[in-house]
Amino acid sequence: MEKRPVIIDTDPGIDDALALAIALFSEELEVKLITTVAGNVSLENVTLNTLRLLQFFEKKVPVAKGAASPLIADFVDASNVHGKTGMEGYDFPEPDESLLLEEHAVNAMRRVIMESPQPVTLVPIATLTNIALLFAMYPEVKGNIKEIVMMGGSAGRGNKGVMSEFNVATDPEAAQMVFQSGLPILMAGLDVGQKALIYPQDTEEIRTMGKVGDMAYHLFKRYRGGSFQTGLKMYDSCAVAYLLCPELFTVEKTYVGVELQGSMTAGCTVVDLRGYLHREPNASVCTDIDGEKFREWFKKSMRKCI
Ligand code: RIB
Ligand code: CA
Repeated sequence: MEKRPVIIDTDPGIDDALALAIALFSEELEVKLITTVAGNVSLENVTLNTLRLLQFFEKKVPVAKGAASPLIADFVDASNVHGKTGMEGYDFPEPDESLLLEEHAVNAMRRVIMESPQPVTLVPIATLTNIALLFAMYPEVKGNIKEIVMMGGSAGRGNKGVMSEFNVATDPEAAQMVFQSGLPILMAGLDVGQKALIYPQDTEEIRTMGKVGDMAYHLFKRYRGGSFQTGLKMYDSCAVAYLLCPELFTVEKTYVGVELQGSMTAGCTVVDLRGYLHREPNASVCTDIDGEKFREWFKKSMRKCI
């Protein structure tokens, strides 16, 4: 079976680390490039973490550094959730620096997309700064992009602001540019991420799944996205889960806007499920997930990470 070509834009980040593992070890995806962007922690740290993960996974995928800060907004990280380095809890090997390209992430994405014989799927599981810059600088790439499958936004409450999710709220202007790109978008938001929970019995099972499972267990102990005891939120794995097992999700086509001006709601995604705004749908939004089936899918996927 021909593998689906993807580019993953990421900010490891503990939940990113697991999403990357599942994508890299899957039979269905060809990860052609990994690009990094400041988000959970600084650009330097998320890039170092990405290289450390590839060394640990023994996967040779090119990495390109992207934006060190949002387009306009001030940069505020999420080190409170992921630790100062962004991936605390496990002693990783030294990174394989040879995988780091000289090219900026935007230029690397353009090259990979334009050279791909098959349309490429973009999988942003971080702030959307790189993706927005790509479309602004090289709009021609849209002709060879299949779709954008992203983790970000929320049809409900937020985790960075009252109503705003971290990836979108960190760079709202970039997010607005992406939702206005005209490309097919699948949005796996906070609503489903908060139901994509891994429980203690799952983490104990995962711990026995070889070195990647053991690594995951140690990161889980440090991760503050949810709780080790009552359920860890696998936000970024939802984007990969949609690619590999879309039947886990309930999806609705609708209009999604990004609020930029709200004095209390700036950075939130306005997901117009009932059509109050009378605007053409511009995204498919995950409105629910089968949590039990997600748990089983996640563990089955982790078993392949060997
Ligand atoms: O809101 C959750 C998102 O923010 C995830 O991508 C997590 O890694 C952080 O980047
Ligand atoms: Ca992330």
